Amino acid sequence: MENLRVLQPNKYNVYIGNNITYKLIERFTFDKVLVIADANLEDNDIDNIVAAFPNSYLLKVKAEEANKSIDQYLKIIDLLVSLNFGKCDYILGFGGGVILDLAGFVASTYKRGIKFISIPTSMLAMVDASVGAKVAINYNGIKNLLGTIYAPQMVIVDPYYLHSLPKEHLINGLMEAYKMGLTLNKDIIKAIKDNNYLEVIKLSLEAKIKIVNEDPFDNDLRHVLNFAHTIAHAIELKMNLLHGIAVAACFKYFIKDEILKKEVINDLKNYVYLDDIYAFIKNNKAEIIESIKNDKKVVNSYHMFINEVFLTSINKYEFKDIKLEDYEVLLNE
Ligand code: GLY
Repeated sequence: MENLRVLQPNKYNVYIGNNITYKLIERFTFDKVLVIADANLEDNDIDNIVAAFPNSYLLKVKAEEANKSIDQYLKIIDLLVSLNFGKCDYILGFGGGVILDLAGFVASTYKRGIKFISIPTSMLAMVDASVGAKVAINYNGIKNLLGTIYAPQMVIVDPYYLHSLPKEHLINGLMEAYKMGLTLNKDIIKAIKDNNYLEVIKLSLEAKIKIVNEDPFDNDLRHVLNFAHTIAHAIELKMNLLHGIAVAACFKYFIKDEILKKEVINDLKNYVYLDDIYAFIKNNKAEIIESIKNDKKVVNSYHMFINEVFLTSINKYEFKDIKLEDYEVLLNE
């Protein structure tokens, strides 16, 4: 088992290994635990997690963006009040990004913060969302509009749970890891090619934790994790794409080295079919730029620019402020 230590905004451990979950839970004592589980997970996996805690309650939530809502949030708050949860009790998020965001946001706000444990079950959450303390819900059609930075007590990353993950969701997470391979550690791309998922997860989290330890509140360096994300977010909803797939399609707009760009576009063909996305982007530039205006990375309404990351060569990047009108040029690629 690997144990990575995150230092910011509070210290916590990220445990990584196959079939480590129950042994780890046994090591600690818990009073009350509310397990918020992805309803799509196998019943057996959910039942076993609940049974691992002597004093636990279960709430199953469908892992859909629509459930990262104020209504769902208040429903959970009401449940916590009725169960008399106190500051020393735990919320356990058991699922992918949607569940961890919702569970973490509840944990961060109820009684100004109760204890939170994260057990990611999707590849995307294992390589990215479960670590870094960003938690949020959606409001008024805007993704992650209400959010906080709230560290969990611990994160248990157990690739065993990938067994029930559909293939396209596996690729979804691998593409987010590919992003970290391009920007931070090229060995991640090698591990993806070798289908060595444990290594992909370990290297991606190591790379992410280094960044988070330096810039936990996303002021500057952490922007590197947003590589290719602005355009991706703008097309994700319009085309109903999985997040990692949208991000992969947008790599090419932010790679300055032409040889590397060609290599990456070719390599991505082994995982995803992107031609339709490229065509959509070409034909919907004005609409995409309109969506970028609402991106939360826009500095403010007077300074309509976004601090973007460009890859100059593999694992070498630079930041540049991009004005809305400059995206028009980028999208001509
Ligand atoms: N997923 C980007 C970040 O954690 O900052």
